[in-house]
Amino acid sequence: MSVFASMESEVRSYSRAWPTVFTTAHGAELHDEHGRTYLDFFAGAGALNYGHNPPELKATLLEYLTGDGITHGLDMHTAAKGAFLERLRDLVLLPRGMDHRVQFPGPGGTNAVEAALKLARKVTGRRAVGYFERGFHGMTLGALAVTANAAKRAGAGVPLPHAVPVPFDDPALDAEQSVSRLVRSLEAAAADAPLAAVVVETVQGEGGVNPARPAWLRALASWTREHGALLVADDIQMGCGRTGPFFSFETAGIVPDIICLSKSISGYGTPMALTLMRPAYDVWRPGEHNGTFRGYNPAFVTATRALEVFWSDSALQARTTALGERVGRALARTARRHGLGAPRGRGLVWGLPFDRPGAAREVCDAAFRAGLLLETAGPGDEVVKLLPPLTVADGQVERGLAILDEAVAAVVGERALVA
Ligand SMILES: Cc1ncc(COP(=O)(O)O)c(C=O)c1O
Repeated sequence: MSVFASMESEVRSYSRAWPTVFTTAHGAELHDEHGRTYLDFFAGAGALNYGHNPPELKATLLEYLTGDGITHGLDMHTAAKGAFLERLRDLVLLPRGMDHRVQFPGPGGTNAVEAALKLARKVTGRRAVGYFERGFHGMTLGALAVTANAAKRAGAGVPLPHAVPVPFDDPALDAEQSVSRLVRSLEAAAADAPLAAVVVETVQGEGGVNPARPAWLRALASWTREHGALLVADDIQMGCGRTGPFFSFETAGIVPDIICLSKSISGYGTPMALTLMRPAYDVWRPGEHNGTFRGYNPAFVTATRALEVFWSDSALQARTTALGERVGRALARTARRHGLGAPRGRGLVWGLPFDRPGAAREVCDAAFRAGLLLETAGPGDEVVKLLPPLTVADGQVERGLAILDEAVAAVVGERALVA
């Protein structure tokens, strides 16, 4: 461990939550150097929706590497990229009536968001962008400007202008009240400067697992359309089936103008991101936005195979939805037993909120000691977030939920009994 403490920057964070050295992983399990096995309810922060080293993707990747396939390709045409584009068109876009064009920005989620913001400003000739309280979109300056977390914003060291926070959907309000508050807030934001775009997560992930209601999302889509602002869906964490359907906004029946994808799009943890745009908004000049690592071809190969294996039919979506409902019911039982607030979630992303500061962190620590990886979310780290791979086995889900229940009992059990 000492090499990490002596050499790696203080900025490291997940390694502090999980102080061990991981060596191998398969499916929903990781192993450490002491031969200990951990059940993974974190899934690479949503980058491993199909689990660690999914066998079909591994076989395809190994074959590609052994055959000296192109590895680094900038934005050159390659066979691997062509195959990916065809599968994306045929298995994802066309079946959903979408004809969005595809930009390959740099490899991280934040790169997809930077491209989206620049494009929306170029299309509209406007500067200001609306974003939501508790929203998270990345760490580069443009994406950070539309990220709500105060500690992360403070890290910028410079002002983060041309970005206006707006309240997110609030389940404590009835749907109509929440929609009218949204419209009022957007009107107020746009009164200062017309908005180029509004960027939204349909379920806020880092912000504490906050699902927006479909009617609220539809109201947001209508407002942007009526006011000449582009609707940017950041589906970086909630896309690729996390909430059930391939895109998280499908259940609301909306089609955003720009869509950001990353994390699980490559299916293998191989870095890759996409910014999808309606054809009318593809106003880039050649090379106007570029980057060295926009064409990591091994990621295209695993991404193509992932679409073929998991998105040629609706089986994964159906299982995610059914399993997610069971997880939600189990978490509701845990919440009732220990006197917690109601769990929130959709598909296979769930959040369990705690009111005592520090309690969610203690639960994650207790879960780690019992062999379960779980992380906190929310502005005060007040939520335990569950993000298992979508391919997790039923038995693993039950085991993870049992460990979580025991961890909650250890941290808040007595308090709940007294209350
Ligand atoms: C919704 C959302 N957008 C953007 C990002 C940033 O992605 P990356 O960390 O790959 O830059 C994240 C990362 O967690 C995210 O959850």
